[in-house]
This record gives sequence, structure tokens and C-alpha cells, in this order.
Amino acid sequence: MTPAQTMSDQSAFSPGLANVPAAESSVCYLDGSIGKLQYRGYPIEVLSEKSSFEEVAFLLLFGHLPKRAELETFDRELRRARTIKFRIIDMLKLLPESGHPMDALSAAVAAMGMFYPGDHVHDPKFRRECAVRLVANLPTVVAAWERIRNGDDPIRARPDLGHAANFLYMLSGEEPEPLVARTMDVAMILHAEHQMNASTFSARVTGSALADPYAVVSAAVGTLSGPLHGGANEEVLKMLRTIPDNKASTIRAWAEDRLARKEKISGFGHREYKVKDPRATILQKLSQRVFEKYGNTPIYDIATELERQMAELVGSKGIYPNVDFYSGILYEKMGIATDLFTPIFAIARVSGWLAHLLEQLQNNRIFRPSQVWTGQADREFVALDRR
Ligand code: ACO
Repeated sequence: MTPAQTMSDQSAFSPGLANVPAAESSVCYLDGSIGKLQYRGYPIEVLSEKSSFEEVAFLLLFGHLPKRAELETFDRELRRARTIKFRIIDMLKLLPESGHPMDALSAAVAAMGMFYPGDHVHDPKFRRECAVRLVANLPTVVAAWERIRNGDDPIRARPDLGHAANFLYMLSGEEPEPLVARTMDVAMILHAEHQMNASTFSARVTGSALADPYAVVSAAVGTLSGPLHGGANEEVLKMLRTIPDNKASTIRAWAEDRLARKEKISGFGHREYKVKDPRATILQKLSQRVFEKYGNTPIYDIATELERQMAELVGSKGIYPNVDFYSGILYEKMGIATDLFTPIFAIARVSGWLAHLLEQLQNNRIFRPSQVWTGQADREFVALDRR
């Protein structure tokens, strides 16, 4: 410890900022000890059953459930804002099709800021326009990228379809069946917000420097892409595919081996939850409804057995399925490419990022944490030929 470093610096340090409040917030309440999750005070179970993604996005952004006229206006604004600039499409065409869609999304969103300059801090109208445009445009960018990398032209948005149904339509050119559209709608509600997670923190940090909202969302997309965060949904499916069958003995041996090697099992564990993530419970029920109609998948049986085995092996440590565990299985059944799972997460989470950005800007102070110094001080410079 250097003389300048005090004991209080040391005791204040929390790796990963665990249990360190980074903001005062009224966007999302979370009690991970009992699996309680609420957006603006409304339980996730109720919102996922009774509302639409559009309604939840409004709730997150503006703090209250919209009245009918408010929702109609917001929905109309979203539908009008779905089209992206043709130069963004041109830019996507120049990116390598082997690249990850999260990188394409991050680049496209950052570039969007060049088309819509303005002073977002001092102009509430500009802030609202940015929020609407970003929520409306992310699905268009992801769908356009999917089409372009497969050698197809992007599909124009359908103004008569809701947010989730239109996204699925822009991906495939086919209008989704109501159950599929509603399933995507609910999946988006479940992913829309989750308190001070890494990407939201990233959004707040970037926003606190008064960067424009496109830079904020681009930064958050980059953070979400990591396999310890949103990227886990893609990893789950890749991981489950390596398990040869759904026999309890096979899965037990596979999990024990991985845990013995201290390897993380994707889709399990959470900094906040010490019980099963309530979103995983809802997603699992949703999957079952889809499987009842369209047939089961072997990978789902492997997943449920892995959940059982993990409960026995590490349940006592509070390691249970998180939101990423069942989402990929569901998306795969809907015919969606594995590397689009995390972009779908981003399409939903953008509403939460923006809600936090608006909140941050209300009472902003730039993030500038301190550190615990571990280097050497006052070193003597030695000339190059004497080292
Ligand atoms: N598999 C096996 N062991 C685990 C797992 C897991 N998935 N998650 C945590 N653990 C163990 C750790 O090995 C560690 O054990 P130890 O105390 O014996 O060393 C203990 O639980 C604590 O783990 P940390 O990684 O320190 O917990 P942290 O809160 O820092 O990390 C995280 C949380 C990143 C989510 C972690 O659980 C993880 O890596 N999970 C797998 C990736 C994943 O699913 N991420 C998605 C999270 S949800 C989301 O972002 C949308």
C-alpha cells in the first residue's frame, strides 16, 4: 500500500462494483432473494400477461402506464419511425457478412447519430424523438442486417403490424402467426429492463458525459454483446448442442466435469438473483405453449434435465437459470438464427437503456469513480541506453 492510499480506499473497493449503488433510480425494482422484478412498480408477471411491448416501453420511458390516447400516439410515432436511412443500409452492405450482428448493430446505431444531430440535453423534444427513433429503428437494423448478409434485399416495415410482429415479418417476409408474434412480444417485455446491469450502467456512464443518445445505445450494445451478459443466450444454445443426449446420467457427468474444471455454465447464475430468475420461469412457460403447438425440441429436454441437475449440484450456492437459459431455445424454435438472439435482447433492452438515460439526464453528474492504486509512485526515469 502506498502512503497516499488509506485503509478506507481498500475497504470501499468492491470488485465488479457489487452492492455499490451507482444511481438513484425509479425505473426497475429487483429483489433477487425472492425473485421479485417490477418495472416502475408493476410486477413482471402482470406486465408480461396483460401488456404489449409498446405499452411497456412507454411505461419505462415516461414513468406511467399510458392512457389509451397516449399509447395510440406513441404507437403511431413508433410505426412512422421504423424506416432507416438508405445510407445505413448501404453501410451494412459494406460490413463483412461473417461478422457478428451485434457489431453491425453497434456500428449502425453509432452512425445513426450523424443523421440526427441536436442538443439532447437541453431539448426534451429532441430527447423524445431520439427515444422513439431508437426503439423503432433497432428491429429494422437487425432485420436488414439478417437479410443483407444472406444476399437478400431488406424488407420494408409493415405499418399495420405491431412492433414484435413487424420485426418477425421484416426478418422472413412472412407475417407471423398470432401465437408466434405474441411470444416475441412477451419475450421483448421480459428483456426490456433490468435495473443496473452492465449495459445499462454503460449507457448511464456514456450518457453522463452528455454523449448523444445514439452513442449511448451503441456503447450499451457493445457491453451487452459480452458472453457474461446478453451474449450468454447464444452461448447457452451452443453449449446445449454439445450435450449428446437428455439422460440424467449423461447430463450429470457433463455438468460435474464442467464445474470441476471451474468453467461457467451459460444461462446460470446472476449477480442479483439467488433463486430462479422470474423471467426464466415465464420464458419456460411461453416455450411450453409454443412446443404444444409446433412440437417439442430435443434440446428443451436437455435443458430441463440440466436445470434439475444444476439445482442439486449448485442450487445451495444460489445458482439457478437466468433469463438467457430458455430464450435461445424458444427463438431457435421460431426459426431465428443463433447469433440474432443477443440482437433481439438489444431490440428490447433499448427501452430500458433510454429510460435510464432520461433519468440520468434529469439530475446529471458525470460518472468519475475513484480507484485503489496498486502501482508504484515517484519512480526514477532511467535513460533508454541505461535500462
Ligand atoms: N456456472 C458455474 N458456476 C457459477 C456460475 C455458472 N454459470 N455462475 C456463478 N458461478 C459460481 C462461480 O464459479 C463462483 O464460485 P466460487 O465462489 O466457488 O468461485 C460463484 O458462483 C460466484 O460467481 P461470480 O462469477 O463471482 O458471480 P458474479 O456475480 O460476478 O457473476 C454472472 C454473475 C456473470 C452472471 C455469472 O453467474 C456467470 O458468468 N454466469 C454465466 C454467464 C451468463 O449466463 N450470463 C448471463 C447473465 S444474465 C444477463 O446478463 C442477461
